[in-house]
Amino acid sequence: MSTPLNETVVLMKDIVKTFPGGVVANDHITFDLKRGEIHGLLGENGAGKTTLVNILYGLYKPDSGEIYVKGRRVKLNSPRDAIKLGIGLVPQHFKLVEVHTVVENIILGLKEYGFILRIREAEERIRELARKYGFRIDPKAKIWQLSMGERQYVEIMKALFRNADILILDEPTTVLTPQETEQLFKVLKRMKEEGKSIIFITHKLDEALTICDRITVLRKGRKIGTVTPDKVTKVDLARMMVGREVLFRISKSKMKVKAEKPILIVENLSVLSDKGVLAVKNVSFSVYPGEILGIAGIAGSGQEELMEAIAGLRKPVKGKIIIKGRDVTYASPREIYELNVAYIPEDRIRTGSLPNLTLWENLILKHHRRKPLVKHKIILNFKEIFKFAEKRKREFEIVAPNIFVPARTLSGGNLQRLILARELTGKPDLILAVYPTRGLDVGATEYVRKVLLRERDRGAAIVLVSEELDEIFQLSDRIAVIHNGELMGIVPTSQATVEEIGLMMGGALRR
Ligand SMILES: Nc1ncnc2c1ncn2[C@@H]1O[C@H](COP(=O)(O)OP(=O)(O)O)[C@@H](O)[C@H]1O
Ligand SMILES: [Mg+2]
Repeated sequence: MSTPLNETVVLMKDIVKTFPGGVVANDHITFDLKRGEIHGLLGENGAGKTTLVNILYGLYKPDSGEIYVKGRRVKLNSPRDAIKLGIGLVPQHFKLVEVHTVVENIILGLKEYGFILRIREAEERIRELARKYGFRIDPKAKIWQLSMGERQYVEIMKALFRNADILILDEPTTVLTPQETEQLFKVLKRMKEEGKSIIFITHKLDEALTICDRITVLRKGRKIGTVTPDKVTKVDLARMMVGREVLFRISKSKMKVKAEKPILIVENLSVLSDKGVLAVKNVSFSVYPGEILGIAGIAGSGQEELMEAIAGLRKPVKGKIIIKGRDVTYASPREIYELNVAYIPEDRIRTGSLPNLTLWENLILKHHRRKPLVKHKIILNFKEIFKFAEKRKREFEIVAPNIFVPARTLSGGNLQRLILARELTGKPDLILAVYPTRGLDVGATEYVRKVLLRERDRGAAIVLVSEELDEIFQLSDRIAVIHNGELMGIVPTSQATVEEIGLMMGGALRR
């Protein structure tokens, strides 16, 4: 079944896939993959990328269209069929068993390795594969001990172990650090040199331009085109992906609202982590109306615990939190919320929304005690509720067939819009935004940033936690740097440099 280089190993022709509810996830998409190439599949959240590769992996059946693998027309009824044809998929969310070892996960489901005696053999083969492609991995390690980057290697190894020569990676870099991404790219290049063919899904333009030989852009279920990186710029790609010009720099106006009194005062605050160690150590700062205070720091420096304490979700062990002049150090989340505080949590799927409830239900969560949504305190006024929900859906451009579909059917970007729509309704005085653009594509990121600036210009006080320095610099009026739970200093953005903030993040400089 070997195919010469440059020969087409996969051809998906005129693929149509519609989901219940009327979403056309793939609208007559034709896609081809050559031997020995890395073919990028680029598109915003909801563009139809995962759907297309799931069809190729036999997870979904297309409504119509043809699939050819290595020159033969195929019908894929299950992943088993795909695997037999040499196709491997590294899913967006890993499917590993945490309490099992690497080798156990890799041979899981393979009959011929089902006997204890052959585990050694499997281990040896894994070591061999690891050497060949440059993975660093211990076959005997338990999955829970591994970083996200290492787990991804296990998924890749699982496919290679099954002799995949067509490898699909669905947004592999979203869970990786920049250093891990670089490592992964090396592995992919090695595989390509070995003659393997790779479909690389991403919504990150720079990545697509760096690693891919060709890039196919999808938008709203349609194929916009296939290009080679040497023939396009980042701006061209963004335009193809989003369908309009995209600003890579958002312009921030001068602070409009000048006020004497801060909305939020944090005083000598100390907070414990889940593990019971001090995560926030004696931190003090104030945030004024009309300003964004950016909190910079490497992940796990205490910023999440700090924000949870302000939102009422974590009780401080020391210090004070004052919102609009009221001591709320030990207030409940509900009491904080009732002070007109919006909270955009880090984990949008678990704490930000209720996936099984409909859009309208999610949109009115927290607002359902308000008139005119409630008549006589208990009876919900459905006409008003639907009007309210429709309006929010329109305003925040939430893409969904209607307000009656469950929240779990939304893409990441749209789920984020849903949470923003809910949290920012009612003109909050204080907005706590924790990694608000994490995992979002260009279009959705731009949108979220604009909304935050709009709210700031309106006069809201905003605390923004982000791990992207770029974002901190773009949006913040002042930057507070946290290192190992301690505040290293607060610098006005106009006077800050990336180098200096970086040194503070690393604990090497105080200001
Ligand atoms: N199982 C499903 N049921 C209903 N709609 C779905 C399902 N999977 C995906 N969709 C919808 O299909 C569209 C494309 O989704 P997807 O292929 O996941 O996009 P991407 O991977 O590019 O983010 C989206 O509008 C999404 O909401
Ligand atoms: Mg996807």
